[in-house]
Amino acid sequence: MTSPAVPAPVTADDVDRARERLGALVRRTPVELSERLSELAGAPVWLKREDLQAVRSYKLRGAYLFLDSLDDARRAAGVVAASAGNHAQGVAYACRALGIDARIYVPTTTPRQKRERIVALGGERVELVMTGDAFDDAAAAAATDAARTGAALVPPFDSPVVMAGQGTVIAEAMEQVREDNGREISSVVLPVGGGGLLGGCMAWLAERAPEVHVLGVEPAGAASMAAAVRAGEPVTLADLERFVDGAAVRRVGEHPLATVLAHRPRLGVVDEGAVCTEMLALYQVDGIIAEPAGALAPAAVATGLVRDPGEGGILVVLTGGNNDVSRYNEVVERSLVHEGLKHYFLVTFPQEPGALRRFLHDVLGPEDDIVLFDYIKRNNRETGPALVGLELGSRENLEPLLERMAASPMEIERIDPAGPMYRYLS
Ligand SMILES: Cc1ncc(COP(=O)(O)O)c(C=O)c1O
Repeated sequence: MTSPAVPAPVTADDVDRARERLGALVRRTPVELSERLSELAGAPVWLKREDLQAVRSYKLRGAYLFLDSLDDARRAAGVVAASAGNHAQGVAYACRALGIDARIYVPTTTPRQKRERIVALGGERVELVMTGDAFDDAAAAAATDAARTGAALVPPFDSPVVMAGQGTVIAEAMEQVREDNGREISSVVLPVGGGGLLGGCMAWLAERAPEVHVLGVEPAGAASMAAAVRAGEPVTLADLERFVDGAAVRRVGEHPLATVLAHRPRLGVVDEGAVCTEMLALYQVDGIIAEPAGALAPAAVATGLVRDPGEGGILVVLTGGNNDVSRYNEVVERSLVHEGLKHYFLVTFPQEPGALRRFLHDVLGPEDDIVLFDYIKRNNRETGPALVGLELGSRENLEPLLERMAASPMEIERIDPAGPMYRYLS
């Protein structure tokens, strides 16, 4: 009887060897002290700035190492990959540098900006194929292509080689903090999608720095690693909140899970709204453009998820900066909702002169700002409803506002933040 295949573990030596092979194509990105996050955490917090990596994300490390590991025959046969974002950019960039042809499958829903980046980075070497409307469709098409043509499939996370490549980020950062700042790190915070980054880093840390606490952070609506750890095997999430693209993965990889089960890092979740708040703080305070998955680990520090950082500092991997500028509206909105600062009401106004003035005077406080007002005057009726959106100066202003509303003779109904109407509006 044959026993089920046990994934080969990734070792710290694999990661160290990967570092030697990364070469000049993969940047040694800076590690910077974040004064804002250090203050919040009560301990020094260093950001590993992979948003400044060549393709603006750490994904280049694993993709490059995988492609560089192929022998001449496999290189000549070309490769295929599926991704809606950073992995595709890493594959495209590395293929061009190594002279390998690639077919990259993306869902038709992939934003134009991302498609253009993939084509620009890959140049003549890359053929972009749009298929299906979800990542799973693109992944299935890439797998079929690989089976039919014999081209190597470049996995985004479920591969010991890719994991070893991703693990180089932590080996490099620990060295930088020690050499440049004379400090030892006692906690490491990493985002988790399919688990390639966490698995690779954990493998290295478990052998080279076993005393370091590791926290893997998932988006609240996509906690597939926690589900897999509970079940002892990868499970497919039925519901997935896609906002934190990159880390919103329905099912983690076998290889990353094996490493996580062997070393048991702490896992935590951060609400998508808190990720947005952190993206804005990074942008406004620190001048850093982070994509949602890039802001996931910093958001864990900002929301107090890192407990007991120990004597040394906290090392946080800011994994990527490929944020589409058109997403900022949604980012601001989600952040306001998360902060409890945005609220919607249905106000039934008496259709008489002065009604609006009374609402403004009697109900609104000095810091309550109207951000939406939608009213249609109805003939032959005594009242007319208006949809009113308010942005509050602070979360504490909500209770007194609701009290003034209850005391008002006008009929005012709050739109339930958990309901479908609110989701439609926000
Ligand atoms: C910016 C960014 N952060 C984090 C992740 C999650 O990495 P992993 O799938 O290795 O867990 C990804 C994955 O694409 C990513 O693009």
